[in-house]
Amino acid sequence: MQLSVIVPTFNEGPNIDELVRGLTTALHGIDAEVIFVDDSTDDTPAIITEVAATATLPVRCIHRDQPVGGLGGAVVEGARAATSDLCIVMDGDLQHPPAKVPELYRRGLEGDVDVVVASRYTGGGDASGLAGWIRHLVSRTSTLVTKAMFPVRLHDTTDPMTGFFLFDRRTVDVAELKPRGFKILLEILARQQLRVTEVPFDFGERHAGESKASFRQGMSFFWQLALLRFGRMSGFAVIGALGALANIAIVWLLTTVGVEYLISAIVATEVTILANFIAQELWVFRDMRADASPLRYRFIIAFAFNNAEALIRIPIVYLMVDSRHFTAVVATAITLAIAFVVRFTFQSLVVYAPRRSRRARQLYPSVDPIAPPESVESD
Ligand code: GDD
Ligand code: MN
Repeated sequence: MQLSVIVPTFNEGPNIDELVRGLTTALHGIDAEVIFVDDSTDDTPAIITEVAATATLPVRCIHRDQPVGGLGGAVVEGARAATSDLCIVMDGDLQHPPAKVPELYRRGLEGDVDVVVASRYTGGGDASGLAGWIRHLVSRTSTLVTKAMFPVRLHDTTDPMTGFFLFDRRTVDVAELKPRGFKILLEILARQQLRVTEVPFDFGERHAGESKASFRQGMSFFWQLALLRFGRMSGFAVIGALGALANIAIVWLLTTVGVEYLISAIVATEVTILANFIAQELWVFRDMRADASPLRYRFIIAFAFNNAEALIRIPIVYLMVDSRHFTAVVATAITLAIAFVVRFTFQSLVVYAPRRSRRARQLYPSVDPIAPPESVESD
């Protein structure tokens, strides 16, 4: 067996026949199997069995009566059951075109990478199948924030949340994965340093049925992310909070000795921006300094960005309060929470972005330490 195609399904009955037909055509000449890992509450398993009976590809169905880990758990279960070491994961609703599968397979077969990501966001890829601009925005923003949290491990992928990818079971430690919900690829990439490449693809419209993505899935995703990335993020948060306290203390001190409020606020802002930069350098992004741009460059962009951020945030607070929908405290809290995420993203992806090429990092992997499976803090 050369290839195992793993398809997680939850109530996808009307899509099964079309998907298996598409895969049969696409995989002509490749010795492949299809494994459905099914958590359905309807007749999907019966439909899979029916389709399997006449399919020319070997089609298996693993039905889970007590599903664990949702979509991600299903993928891990499929990977365990797979006959081949090369596994492709794809959705069962035809948003991931079967015709793209051979390309992923051929790229994986070359053997120089551990994961091949089918990306909606790289040259020629297209995410138009995402329903509505809100999901587009959510997808784009969460991709950016996720990349910021794992700037090194996710460096080589533009779409860490895609559900369409190939991985090699010989290098991806399936047993170590603790998948929760939708973002299985993220879990795979964040836990180990892997060699990743991408191929673009067009994320199509759903063939039949409706999406199982929900607000709850979204929340579970952010929880998963926080857990994976607790290290760097929490350090950043602590320093940010200390900075905010210092800011208030300085304003208080200066105004008590008679300095004008505006001057006090400016001094406090500049002092905390400086102190913040030093703390980020010494603790939060310490391990990324060696690969990043020189210190003076890091300082200039961080300093400019934080000043711009403060300049923008203050009038926004003013407008929010002026609109009478928010009190000053609420407006400040909301803008600070957003600023926290924006700042973290900017620091990770711009200020401390690795300068060296992918190839150089692969040749000298020791600069990019591999964390023990339990801890992913060193990214
Ligand atoms: N076994 C199992 N268990 N399968 C599930 C479950 C579950 O709890 N939840 C969803 N699935 C299956 C669906 O049946 C479908 O085959 C696939 O997982 C993707 O679910 P959709 O409901 O179609 O998700 P989507 O189209 O909104 O999300 C897709 O795009 C996201 C990026 O925007 C998926 O590819 C996600 O993985 C991807 O992150
Ligand atoms: Mn879908």
